[in-house]
Amino acid sequence: MTTSYDIVIIGGGPAGYNAAIRAGQLGLKSACIEMRDDENYGGTCLNVGCIPSKALLHASELFEAAQNDFAGLGIKTTGLKLDLPQMLKQKEEAVSGLTKGIDYLLKKNKADQYLGKGAIIDPNTVQVTDKKGKTQNLKTKNIIIATGSEVMPLPGVEIDEKRIVSSTGALTLSSVPKHMVVIGGGVIGLELGSVWRRLGAKVTVVEFLDKILPPMDNEVSKQFQRILKKQGMDFKLSTKVTGVEKLKSKLKVKIEPAKGGESDIIECDNVLVAIGRRPYTQGLGLENVGVAMDKRGFIETNHFATNVAGIYATGDCIHGPMLAHKAEDDAVACVEIIAGKAGHVNYDLVPNVVYTYPEVASVGRTEEELKTSGIAYKVGKFSFAANSRAKTNHETDGFVKVLADSQTDKILGVHIVGVGGGELIAEAVAVMEFGGASEDIARTCHAHPTRSEAVRQAAMGVEGWTMQS
Ligand code: FAD
Ligand code: NAI
Repeated sequence: MTTSYDIVIIGGGPAGYNAAIRAGQLGLKSACIEMRDDENYGGTCLNVGCIPSKALLHASELFEAAQNDFAGLGIKTTGLKLDLPQMLKQKEEAVSGLTKGIDYLLKKNKADQYLGKGAIIDPNTVQVTDKKGKTQNLKTKNIIIATGSEVMPLPGVEIDEKRIVSSTGALTLSSVPKHMVVIGGGVIGLELGSVWRRLGAKVTVVEFLDKILPPMDNEVSKQFQRILKKQGMDFKLSTKVTGVEKLKSKLKVKIEPAKGGESDIIECDNVLVAIGRRPYTQGLGLENVGVAMDKRGFIETNHFATNVAGIYATGDCIHGPMLAHKAEDDAVACVEIIAGKAGHVNYDLVPNVVYTYPEVASVGRTEEELKTSGIAYKVGKFSFAANSRAKTNHETDGFVKVLADSQTDKILGVHIVGVGGGELIAEAVAVMEFGGASEDIARTCHAHPTRSEAVRQAAMGVEGWTMQS
């Protein structure tokens, strides 16, 4: 049977399902193909990424607060115990609830769903092969590749998803390890490392570079590392893992200085490999049509169009930050371009949030980037220790830092370490999207008592009139 579409989308993650929704809204007939074994739409984000990790971060944060903070708030608990199976179950419920929501949205927008692996036969034909090997050809005017990314492997460290895990295995461990070694002090390492530390594991993070969260502002990385250390996380910076030996009852992680030198061994029960992700385009048939990729396997695009007419790509498999909201924005802009509109994504203003305690959130340029580019800037900073809401809630770790152009006062970057940072950053993104100045935030009324007042006070600091510290 042959069916004909305006757009066939390969991949049902944030880049894929949002493309299908937008296509439906614009009156374009679309199909969305997804190959996950569990037949769930939602991609990495909903199934093994953003959502399950946040479900565990939320629950483990409350568990730790119940242990450490409740008594001080006048809440007595007795017999507090971890019920790990229930914690994992509520995570699965969050996932299944949200993936069902995607099915509903696809239906609502009249997108046909195909379960199986999609492969491009020619620019107007996509073949779907289902689990039983049955194939079906879909005819289409346009194709969007939204096949996402996969875990970056580390040579010499074989992931078995039981003892040596990627993020996927780290979301389903059936018991709390005594000691977990995390390879990579990036977002996944710090988020999932935090989960297991809160639940009782000793966590050692081995990071190749000399700072955690390497792309972040240096001051943010340093203070955040201090906070995590205070919480009990150990760090070995400028260190590389050269191999992991699997013994019956433990793992031996071999480490040595990143620049070379004497090696050492760390013994542990679990290793989490979190050294990044890489684009996933296997078996897509890109060679059939000659779609160009760069050396690292990212599909080359110009405003989402590949080098082959009618074939587009979006999300983690193209350049840019590997984030769900970036994938979503790619999807909307790409479909709008296909529909003849002026789709656009401002990649300079994609916010970045690490959902730890406290959260880390940033948008725009770091101080280091501004220095390297020779841009003159002013800094306004405000500590949560001086923010009334944060103080009242005993959540004073962290600060807000606003970087603005010395001449024009235009905001160039905002960096937050603090509880609720992931929500607070939205104000900065909105103001920056309008080309706003620090004075725009400084002179905007902010409700009291809220943490958002810290953002305002930091903005005031750019012109030197912070009032509350
Ligand atoms: P994906 O979500 O990877 O979706 C691609 C889909 O395509 C997959 O479902 C795959 O099965 C399917 N597919 C691939 N090839 C084919 C084919 N040939 N045929 C049919 N289907 C195919 N981002 C955030 O913004 N916030 C977070 O908090 C966050 N947390 C994360 C936590 C973890 C542990 C991980 C691993 C990632 C996290 N991310 C987060 C990143 C986020 O998940 C990705 O950026 C996002 O999912 C990318 O969307 P995508 O649609 O491009 O790709
Ligand atoms: P990452 O790029 O954030 O961090 C990887 C870290 O590993 C870096 O600090 C890097 O220097 C280090 N590293 C690389 N090779 C190493 C080695 N051999 N030994 C030791 N350290 C090494 O990648 P991560 O954490 O795997 O996450 C992948 C992607 O998923 C990220 O790009 C992020 O965009 C996305 N993600 C986003 C989240 C969020 O938005 N909150 C949460 C989780 C993931």
